[in-house]
Amino acid sequence: MSASQTSQRTHRCGALRKEHVGARVRLGGWVHRRRDLGGIVFLDLRDRDGIVQVALGPAWAPPDVLARAGSLGAETVVVVEGEVVLRPANMKNAELATGDVEVHATRLEVVGAATTPAIPVARAKNEELPAEELRLKQRHLDLRRPELQAYLMLRHRLLQRARRTLSELEFLEIETPILTKPTPEGARDYLVPSRVHAGEFYALPQSPQIYKQLLMVAGFDRYFQIARCFRDEDLRNDRQPEFSQIDLEASFVGSDDVLAYVEAVLVALWDEAGHAVTRPFPRLRWRDAMERFGTDKPDLRYDLVIADWTAAVAPLAVPFFQTAGQNGARVRGIPVRGGSALSRKDVDQLAEAAKQLGGSGLAWVKRQGDQLSGSVAKHFTAETLGRLGVGDGDVALMTIGPDRVTSPVLDRLRQEVIRRVAPAPATAHAFCWVMDFPLFEPDAETGKPVFAHHPFTAPHPDDVAKLESDPFACRALHYDAVYNGNELGSGSIRITDASVQRTVFRHLGLTDQEIGERFGFLLQGLAAGAPPHGGFAIGFDRVVMLAAGAGSLRDVIAFPKTTAARALFEGAPAAARAEDLATLHLKVVP
Ligand code: AMO
Repeated sequence: MSASQTSQRTHRCGALRKEHVGARVRLGGWVHRRRDLGGIVFLDLRDRDGIVQVALGPAWAPPDVLARAGSLGAETVVVVEGEVVLRPANMKNAELATGDVEVHATRLEVVGAATTPAIPVARAKNEELPAEELRLKQRHLDLRRPELQAYLMLRHRLLQRARRTLSELEFLEIETPILTKPTPEGARDYLVPSRVHAGEFYALPQSPQIYKQLLMVAGFDRYFQIARCFRDEDLRNDRQPEFSQIDLEASFVGSDDVLAYVEAVLVALWDEAGHAVTRPFPRLRWRDAMERFGTDKPDLRYDLVIADWTAAVAPLAVPFFQTAGQNGARVRGIPVRGGSALSRKDVDQLAEAAKQLGGSGLAWVKRQGDQLSGSVAKHFTAETLGRLGVGDGDVALMTIGPDRVTSPVLDRLRQEVIRRVAPAPATAHAFCWVMDFPLFEPDAETGKPVFAHHPFTAPHPDDVAKLESDPFACRALHYDAVYNGNELGSGSIRITDASVQRTVFRHLGLTDQEIGERFGFLLQGLAAGAPPHGGFAIGFDRVVMLAAGAGSLRDVIAFPKTTAARALFEGAPAAARAEDLATLHLKVVP
């Protein structure tokens, strides 16, 4: 007896194969489609394993059963009983896993009547999906779509595999609280008012960061958790207000240990999704990633690299490059192999994109044989271009300015060029580590140093002396895992000296009283005997989306929020009743 058998069915619909021919089966499922052909009713019956064809004909089904089958509406839930028969050779359906067989039903019972579905579940090939807003409102129907079912079943398998892999590496799964104190991960907190303590609030965790460090202090040595995190921040396609992390922390480790644990998990997860990938992943210093790709999450599938052409173009007296050398301005460019396929319109759009990101504009030269064209072509010769690595059929895209301006511009140009000229990727799965991040970055408004990651990240031991004198030159023991241009996760080795941690908080402008109130429990822990430790958090929703090849995070979360942080299906957030607010000692100020 298989595990899917119950008191009401013998098999799942999608599980029937040739070897079941001759068996009498009872199936439960949803009517995916109904066709009436020459007195025979064909039902496509669907469950989570797939679809099977059920046929009801006068030769084997009693008239009342036949009549009932003929009036079934889409998405009605039925239980049918009948015999599995081999389909004649010309009636096989290669597109269905069950396509060799069909069930000749002799009994049929409606066990779940269905209203007419607001969006169709069965779709013709290439038929467009209804608008996403409508699908999110009708999530119970949209979730019946085989694609979404497959994503969530993969999600389940990836979860189990992550748990198994980490358990085998001796990590302990330990849960940490959801009603907690604010954790600084750079977003706003979701607050939960306390009923019993008027005017006081819990915060939902942005991550279990402080708790996992305290678990190391407590001696658990290796911890993991599939942790739900909550962040009130501007949403994008790769962000949800609540999301899941595969969160881990380990004691008596250095960066190499942590990277090895995370690689083991990621390789296992990709394997579970059917992709063979190898480790170790290449490592890139943050500085080099910014120099060569203009971003800390480079897409390494494509070997398109940014170059510094400041010295090379200096003798050419190009007016556009006049300001080179002033205020750190450099001429940086991308030699695009095969870039002459870019049309004039493409280049105009690239220039527009560069401007939108605050760049000074785009200079370009296209080389076709000895023919040069483009905005600064008259200053170049084929030979100068050759020295820049720009050959026949290529284009040189260039921009000028300080790195903080040109890096995002060149990152965007690189992505646009990849999209438009589409060279074949060197590999389908390009993982890498980005290491040696700066500890501080300049605050967008004040220019003062603020923590680039979270304030528990240890400074690079070689840079500790520069903490006070030259904070921006100070590197962190922080690493990010990047996959095909997406940040999968990040982590660091932590500060374990309570006095260093206190100094860092002071650096962030916290008074001693604030430090005590917000982080006293961490400092107390660190002072009580803390082992060296470090850890990591993998964005699990992103992993599922990328490993499954899904188009959006919303496709791999059962009940997601929109980019406006609304749950359209259940209708949250919603106004609270006045008496509930009163109990919570709250008043809404319009
Ligand atoms: P960090 O804030 O970088 O690190 O988060 C780790 C990973 O979580 C994912 N992620 C998100 N996924 C979906 N929606 C969001 N709003 C969202 N925000 C983050 C990303 C990200 O790389 N405590 C540290 C980890 C550590 O130092 O151990 C942390 O949370 O994939």
